[in-house]
Amino acid sequence: MSALPQGLREFVHEASLVVFSPGRINLVGEFTDYNMGFVLPAAIDKGVYFVITPRTDQKIHLFSADFGEAYETSVEELLPSKKSSWPNYILGVVEQFKLAGITLKGFDGAVSGNIPIGAGLSSSAAVECAVAMALNEVAQSGFEKLQLVQMAQKAENNYVGVQCGIMDQFASMFGQLSQAIRLDCRSLSYEYIPLSMDGLRIVLLDSNVKHSHGSSEYNVRRKQCEDGVAMIQQHHPEVQTLRDATMKMVNDFILPFDHTIYKRCKFILEENERVVTAAENLKNGDLKSFGAKMFSSHEGLQNWFEASCTEMDFLVNCVKNNDAVPGSRMMGGGFGGCTINLVKEGAVDEIIQMASAAYHNTLNLELTPYVAKIETGTTVLKHANKQF
Ligand code: GLA
Repeated sequence: MSALPQGLREFVHEASLVVFSPGRINLVGEFTDYNMGFVLPAAIDKGVYFVITPRTDQKIHLFSADFGEAYETSVEELLPSKKSSWPNYILGVVEQFKLAGITLKGFDGAVSGNIPIGAGLSSSAAVECAVAMALNEVAQSGFEKLQLVQMAQKAENNYVGVQCGIMDQFASMFGQLSQAIRLDCRSLSYEYIPLSMDGLRIVLLDSNVKHSHGSSEYNVRRKQCEDGVAMIQQHHPEVQTLRDATMKMVNDFILPFDHTIYKRCKFILEENERVVTAAENLKNGDLKSFGAKMFSSHEGLQNWFEASCTEMDFLVNCVKNNDAVPGSRMMGGGFGGCTINLVKEGAVDEIIQMASAAYHNTLNLELTPYVAKIETGTTVLKHANKQF
């Protein structure tokens, strides 16, 4: 975690509380979270800082150091911002606290981060988790971390309007140094798996294609998965989510009737299996098999779930069959953002240079590389000396 961004320093007073919440990577298991399946994310060293200073009145004064914008509303009459979306990730969490019956006073809140926005690294979940932990502390509401995660997810579902699953908020809140999290999104049981990537680095190649326009497609995909469940349910009422479905059910009750829904569901069932076996590969240190699952995940995301884009396909293809890159795939909510690559330590610079040059020469586009470090989750950095 890097030092408090310069732009936030003037907002930190004696009574302020400062919270850091990280972005996340996801090694494998895309779109499986809202289908009650498995995911394998980890928190990274890039994240969001939120400075909260309690007020004595009901006003909420927000400032984004990154956008250089302010927004004002109040706890009683919480109004979403129409001009910019960044205040809504904060206000959505305030709304969740109100709905949970917590009495909040007003506050000044300032936010700044170093996660590239729209890159598939969950800057939005990082903001939501930082705010959830900050409000929990200042209002002394005593929620457990898992409850905060669920409130942060609901803030995104209800206030921002993206029907996301629980992965991003969970990873941001529960991240641990050098550990991946194998999360069962149905039972919410989880296990940390050490990311002792001997001789390998996690390299993110940001295509710089922003995925913001993809949020409607994201919701469309989710609806298609639900439609698939409804088709199976006519014959198997016990099937509540794609987690309960078998490939035979998908073949019998979806394939003959709707090819698009079939493609989506087939991918989800296969992706779930991949996470289970990839997690075993990781535990056994079999990074070759693990990497192969990343490539097949991408193949599924490209051809069956159709959530990739030309630019990310290009980036995955240009490292395929390269001995220095055992695994690569698109990552996150799709339709733009980063690819995640396992790269042999000594070859990181060379791979970045090769991919950058190919991206530039073929597509006339520039990529932004990051070497991700796996870090701890949402953390209170400075406690207020006064309470609400
Ligand atoms: C976004 C969502 C997550 C998850 C991923 C895809 O990041 O916020 O809930 O669905 O997309 O795996």
